Amino acid sequence: MNEIPQIPVDKKLVRVLIDSAAIEHRVVQLADRISSDYAGKSPLLVVGILKGSFIFLADLCRRLNIPHHVDFIALSSYGMEGTGSGAVRMVMDLKIDIKNRHLLVVEDISDTGYTLDYLLRNLAARQPASLRCCSLLSKPSLRKVDIEIDYTGFEIPDIWVVGYGLDYRETYRTLPYIAEYRIDDMGRGE
Ligand code: PRP
Repeated sequence: MNEIPQIPVDKKLVRVLIDSAAIEHRVVQLADRISSDYAGKSPLLVVGILKGSFIFLADLCRRLNIPHHVDFIALSSYGMEGTGSGAVRMVMDLKIDIKNRHLLVVEDISDTGYTLDYLLRNLAARQPASLRCCSLLSKPSLRKVDIEIDYTGFEIPDIWVVGYGLDYRETYRTLPYIAEYRIDDMGRGE
């Protein structure tokens, strides 16, 4: 690893996949594009999907140079962890009325795409002025539904990643980098 971890050395953290400097650089690029695209359409409403997006959203929003508001939505997948059954339900809804608002949904990672597909359909039914999405990470090889991600940070291979908001069973979310995490064939941390 090329950075000091916030937690004791852990052999399950295989390697740093994206270090904090690379993340910061990409976040600034994304924020610049978004600020440019939404100039004159503000205040933009940035919608974070809990929990994974909370760190990315905080960094991204602080780099936007257009007026914006922030709200959150919490979703949960049915079924066993990592099975990607496709069933998504809302645990906590937005507090803001989104009709005629310009919306940007912010996600930490898109795997199957079921989460974004569900949420974009749900939000579209509420008649926003516009609706786009931004995902820090994307695993195109796992995609099950055809979703269009307007702003993507990094495309990554099919490996389990933790840090910068992403977890393994609620651990590692606050690592300042994105690391590969080793799981065994049963989907468990070794
Ligand atoms: C993760 C991630 C996305 C979703 C992506 O959430 O944060 O929301 O899975 O997967 P998909 O593209 O296959 O739908 P998770 O259910 O792990 O919850 P969390 O954000 O609270 O960690």
